[in-house]
Amino acid sequence: MTDHNHDNRNHESRAATDGWASLAELLDLDGEVLGSYLREVTAWVRRLATDLPRRRLLDLGCGTGTATIALAQRFAGANVIALDESEEMLDRVRIKAFDLGLADRVRTVRADLNLAWPAIDAIDVAWASMSLHHMADPDRVLKDVFAAINPGGMLALAEMDSQPRFLPDDIGIGRPGLEERCHAALAELHTAAMPHLGSDWAAHLQKTGFVVDAERAFAIDLRAPLPAATGRYARASFQRIRSHLDDRIASDDLAVLDTLIAGDGPHSVLHRTDLNPRTTRTVWIARRP
Ligand SMILES: C[S@@+](CC[C@H](N)C(=O)[O-])C[C@H]1O[C@@H](n2cnc3c(N)ncnc32)[C@H](O)[C@@H]1O
Repeated sequence: MTDHNHDNRNHESRAATDGWASLAELLDLDGEVLGSYLREVTAWVRRLATDLPRRRLLDLGCGTGTATIALAQRFAGANVIALDESEEMLDRVRIKAFDLGLADRVRTVRADLNLAWPAIDAIDVAWASMSLHHMADPDRVLKDVFAAINPGGMLALAEMDSQPRFLPDDIGIGRPGLEERCHAALAELHTAAMPHLGSDWAAHLQKTGFVVDAERAFAIDLRAPLPAATGRYARASFQRIRSHLDDRIASDDLAVLDTLIAGDGPHSVLHRTDLNPRTTRTVWIARRP
């Protein structure tokens, strides 16, 4: 191997690590800032599952485990399997579970669901949040979820309509409409890279054999007083957007985006007083007959 290749490999593995680390940070901040949504949706799922045994839950594509923990707390006594393809994410889940005294009820399973379904015990309640649109073949994964759930058991599937917005149309620098232009450019990328984002999930569920019991849109529109981590959540979100938008938006927009991300200065999202996180998460409740 030449030094050049060695450098490249180091660079690639560093980039991959940074990718996971930045997604993990974003997911933790998402859980923190949108905590009221997470509390509301897990309470709702818990109420709808009162007739079910509370033996075993699955968090499919658990990320850093914000929902794994919320579900373990809602479903007292139940075991929760946190499944993800990323060992880095699962590390974070294990640490959270340990710190909160839940380690005996939270088990992590590493599996790339694009390859195969892992050997796990039968599930009473499955939760999949913002993970199915990442799968190469979500219908195949849904069939596997269906087979893993006990008859009468439930799947709660949460998906986002789009990434959260934070800013007003006119932010006082650059041209109005910056955030919408960023999201439009991002949507083009997503159409190619994640064709299942925004799918008709009720149709996918029915096709698999699930009966869809409920569909609920959770409109999130946070105003002052905002959670303390809102600025950091906005910055992590814009940093991820920025990393995809080189050459895809005009250079003056990129410059403003950099000003928003920078830690100092009155326009930084860390210091702005006009942040208003807003997004919609839709949740489908489906039963295996
Ligand atoms: C957008 S994150 C959502 C995380 C979490 N459910 C939440 O709502 O905060 C998507 C997660 O799905 C996982 N994932 C993506 N493709 C996967 C696959 N093929 N098999 C298993 N996990 C996968 C990723 O590693 C990531 O943690």
